[in-house]
Amino acid sequence: SFVEVLSRPPSLSPPVILTQDELKKIAAYKAVEFVESGMVLGLGTGSTAKHAVDRIGELLRLGKLKNIVGIPTSKKTQEQAFSLGIPLSDLDHHSTIDLAIDGADEVDPQLNLVKGRGGSLLREKMVEGTCKKFICIVDESKLVKHLGGSGLAMPVEVVPFCWKFTANKLQNLFEDSGCVAKLRNDSKGKPFVTDNGNYIVDLYLKKDIGDLQVASDAILRIAGVVEHGMFLDMATTVIVAGELGITIKNK
Ligand code: 5RP
Repeated sequence: SFVEVLSRPPSLSPPVILTQDELKKIAAYKAVEFVESGMVLGLGTGSTAKHAVDRIGELLRLGKLKNIVGIPTSKKTQEQAFSLGIPLSDLDHHSTIDLAIDGADEVDPQLNLVKGRGGSLLREKMVEGTCKKFICIVDESKLVKHLGGSGLAMPVEVVPFCWKFTANKLQNLFEDSGCVAKLRNDSKGKPFVTDNGNYIVDLYLKKDIGDLQVASDAILRIAGVVEHGMFLDMATTVIVAGELGITIKNK
C-alpha cells in the first residue's frame, strides 16, 4: 500500500512522487484504522472522504468490520455508501456519532477548518458537530497559516431568496479584508444548488479576517445565511499525508 512506501527507510525508497489523490488516499486509509466494529460513523463528502468510505465498505465486505452504521453528510456520499452495502441512518435516529471522517479545504495550526468547496458544509457541520471524535483527512496542500489565506473560496450557504442582498451584506462585512462575494455556479453556468436547496456564496479574501469566532458570529447574524464553512474547534484529529509521510495532529 502507499503507507508502506512511505514508511520504508528513505535510503531504500525509490524516488516515488505521489499524486495528490494518492496522498488523499493515504490519509483516508490511516483514518479508517481508527474505526471499530459497532461504531456509528459520520461519512464525509469529497474526493478524500470518498477513499475512506470505499475503505470502510471494503472492510465490511471482508468481515473485518461489523455492525457499522453510517451517517452520510451528502446525497452523493449516501449513494456511494449505499452502493457499498454500508448500513445507513441519520441524525434523527443517532444524535451522537462515535467517529466522523471527512476532508477539508484548509486546515490552520489550531486545527480549525474551511470546508464546503464541495458544497456539503451544512450537513457536514450538523454531523461533525455531534460526534465524539472527528478525524479530518487532508493532503499537505491544505495546510494554511490563516483560514481564508489560500486565496480560495470561503463558502457560505445562503437561502436563494434575494441572495444578492445576502452576498452584499457578506462582502460589506469583510470589506477591510478586501472581500469579494460571488455566487457559485455549476458546470452549466446555473447557480449551484446544495442538497438542501440553497445557494453558495463564496467569499474571496485578500487579507485574513481576524478573530475567527467573531467573524463566524457576524456571518451567522446575517438573515439569509444558513451556515458558513468555517469549522472552528471541531476537528479532534487531523491526519496530513505529505511526500515525507503521515503526520497526525491531535487537539
Ligand atoms: C465538501 C468538503 C470537502 O471535504 C472539501 O471540499 C475537501 O474536498 P476534497 O477532499 O475533494 O479535497 O468540505 O463540502
